Amino acid sequence: MERLKKQIEFANLNFLFEPKRVGRMNFMVKKTNHLELDLVFGMEISCFPKEFWSEEQIYSHHTYQDSIIYWIQAHPVGYLIYMQNQFEIEILRLGVLPDYRKQKIASQLIDFLKNTNKSKDVFLEVNEKNTSAISLYVKAGFSIVGKRKNYYQDKSNAILMKFSALERL
Ligand SMILES: CC(C)(COP(=O)(O)OP(=O)(O)OC[C@H]1O[C@@H](n2cnc3c(N)ncnc32)[C@H](O)[C@@H]1OP(=O)(O)O)[C@@H](O)C(=O)NCCC(=O)NCCS
Repeated sequence: MERLKKQIEFANLNFLFEPKRVGRMNFMVKKTNHLELDLVFGMEISCFPKEFWSEEQIYSHHTYQDSIIYWIQAHPVGYLIYMQNQFEIEILRLGVLPDYRKQKIASQLIDFLKNTNKSKDVFLEVNEKNTSAISLYVKAGFSIVGKRKNYYQDKSNAILMKFSALERL
């Protein structure tokens, strides 16, 4: 518990800046390097305060899957963790810091992933109660392709969604 408290304090330190004053002039999406994983962990805590992946999960998963970060100037404000094979990609985590939401940052992270992997289908699972995320994915061209009952700890269902590579033709 003490360790977790320290991790959260540490992660929060990375976000001690005045977000509203940061302009949108210089922004970019970039693949995460190993030294930036603490930043991903910090954003994970802010975006999923009740159900965040542990630091260990973020670090160990990173050895066989990838993530991208959305930067505004020197500040990381959004991230997307995914895994892929030859044919398809699965989005595992997607979050935007609360102060930066509703500015199409998540949409741009998804576009980056789609545009850099043009021949691959993209899949994801989302809690059926997460209506804002479902609306985001529908706008990004995803369709509902299935449902997993009682999938989450609170017994809510997961919706399976797919963006087909054929959509790009
Ligand atoms: C879901 C989340 C990633 C959206 O990020 P975002 O950068 O604000 O999303 P965008 O600005 O790209 O939104 C694109 C569309 O998604 C939908 N959307 C996003 N946030 C919404 C909200 N709070 N309520 C309703 N619809 C919403 C809208 O259709 C929006 O289009 P519009 O702006 O034209 O109305 C962000 O709210 C978040 O980090 N939430 C907590 C973590 C989470 O739930 N992640 C998804 C897990 S699968």
